[in-house]
Amino acid sequence: MVTTGILTISTTGAAGERADTSGDAIRELVTAPPLEASVAEYAIVPDDRAAIEATLRHWADDLRLNLILTTGGTGLSPTDATPEATLAVVDRLVPGMAEAMRAESLRHTPFGMLSRAVAGARGATLIVNLPGSPKGVRECLAVLLPALPHAVAILTGGPAGH
Ligand code: MTE
Repeated sequence: MVTTGILTISTTGAAGERADTSGDAIRELVTAPPLEASVAEYAIVPDDRAAIEATLRHWADDLRLNLILTTGGTGLSPTDATPEATLAVVDRLVPGMAEAMRAESLRHTPFGMLSRAVAGARGATLIVNLPGSPKGVRECLAVLLPALPHAVAILTGGPAGH
């Protein structure tokens, strides 16, 4: 069973001023085939780099989650800090995942090029940034999901099943 954390990064969401439909979309998609993950952790934090980094470190190092999916804070607003926080905690980048998301996003909206989302591994935990909107979450996860079971299997040293 792939253990997953969903981290919604939204200052208004963390203040309880907005329903987290993007986090709900992630939960719906990762618990269905092909990943059939269990959602072990869920949190909403504001657009605060230190808070994001602390949560990512805790979930990777202490809880040893297999996969962390973030949503929000990847754009060009001065407050957007998700990519910087993620880059600060990963030890290896997985550029192809970010490239695949942006390629897919551009098929849906020219604003797809405005997401600075990154993906990488911290130890055996794969961390992927998704955009903030539920639409963006669904479109990006659709391209990632076919590769996620294999990615997690390799990272955790399990049977790769090439
Ligand atoms: N990617 C997809 N697939 N679909 C979308 O609707 N929205 C874009 C982009 N990526 C979008 C998308 C928009 S409008 C922005 S501003 C950036 O993601 C960054 O979003 P974020 O700051 O909420 O993370």
